[in-house]
Amino acid sequence: MKILGIETSCDETAAAVVEDGTKILSSTIASSSEMHIKTGGIIPEQAARQQVKSIIPVIQQALVEAVNEKVKTRKQPLSSGHHSFISESNIDAIAVTVGPGLIGSLLVGVETAKTLSYLWKKPIVPVNHLVGHVYANFISEKSKLPEKLRNGTGKSQKPTLPKFPALALVASGGHTDLVFMKSHGKIKWIGGTRDDAAGEAFDKTARLLKLPYPGGPAISAVAKKFLDQSSATSHQSLTMFPRPMINDDGFDWSFSGLKTSVLRSVQKTPDLQHRISEFSANIQEAIVDVLVTKTLRAVKKYKPRSLLLAGGVTANKRLRQRFKHEISNLKSDTNIFIPAPKLCTDNATFIASAAFFNYSTIDWKRISVNPQLTIASETQFKTRNSNGEA
Ligand code: KG4
Ligand code: ZN
Repeated sequence: MKILGIETSCDETAAAVVEDGTKILSSTIASSSEMHIKTGGIIPEQAARQQVKSIIPVIQQALVEAVNEKVKTRKQPLSSGHHSFISESNIDAIAVTVGPGLIGSLLVGVETAKTLSYLWKKPIVPVNHLVGHVYANFISEKSKLPEKLRNGTGKSQKPTLPKFPALALVASGGHTDLVFMKSHGKIKWIGGTRDDAAGEAFDKTARLLKLPYPGGPAISAVAKKFLDQSSATSHQSLTMFPRPMINDDGFDWSFSGLKTSVLRSVQKTPDLQHRISEFSANIQEAIVDVLVTKTLRAVKKYKPRSLLLAGGVTANKRLRQRFKHEISNLKSDTNIFIPAPKLCTDNATFIASAAFFNYSTIDWKRISVNPQLTIASETQFKTRNSNGEA
């Protein structure tokens, strides 16, 4: 089954065609993030206007590339009339992000999906963006081998799909959640942030250091300079900033204190411009430390068969290294899955994949956006029938 995924929850306009939830036939992304560099953050109105401009060309490109991918993998050459193949006839359903996100941006994707569903007579599958992120782990990418790191052997296996039960860390720009998944669609929320999300902590502290938006990749790049040059690179030595709730029994986080602490240090540091990389390495470590420590504590408690990393923050190199290293020390039977960095940040492949594995359609007349959706509210989609009735 081929699903066209549409993702417009924030400042990316993305479309992708994914086969059977695992094989990418095409993936196209247009981003307005360059525009937001000037303002140091997203202006929702501008992001939505940019979505309107990009949505049709992006969908068109994804459909054309999906056909070209099919042509490449076809044993027999196509007849000369194969251009008629470039159309909706190549897809079986449309998946679209309905929330959470910016209302103006979400509406562009959902209204477009509705129109296409009506015109093409294809079913629509509504997708929760946060659940979508988790499905980046189900997409086959050469760089995404599940790593069997038991007993510190570091041996990797052939690519396989994650097995349930699974524990997922979803760390994005607006959310940071830990969820336990018994199977597809059976999600139990076990913890989350009480204030800022991990991505938000990167973005806001980057702003304090006058680094560009988005802050995560910017901090990570500058921190690398410090980590490459300094001998004090263990997490025990990068302790300029606090790790709130790290020893707490529950699975919640709090990142707003970090921002305040960075602000105070910035104000007290006259030679700040010479210490940006040191500050960045310390900020990164504080965020990574609490994410890794608490997630692995949850692995010990829940003993999942798979640990799935998801969301833009999990593109962070240091976070990925620390997870791989520390799960091997746990000597558990849990396999860790880490999507390729480009699948961690917003794109439409995981939206199409989530729709395949949680296939529940809704009539185009009944679909609506929900900017406040959380991962805990996910069950609302699971009880709908094909008419969208609860
Ligand atoms: O999941 P995502 O692409 O979009 C949302 O759904 O929010 O996440 C965006 C967040 C931003 O806060 C960005 O700074 C952060 O992910 N991010 C990173 C990295 N790449 C993106 N944070 C740390 N290190 C990175 N390499
Ligand atoms: Zn996202």
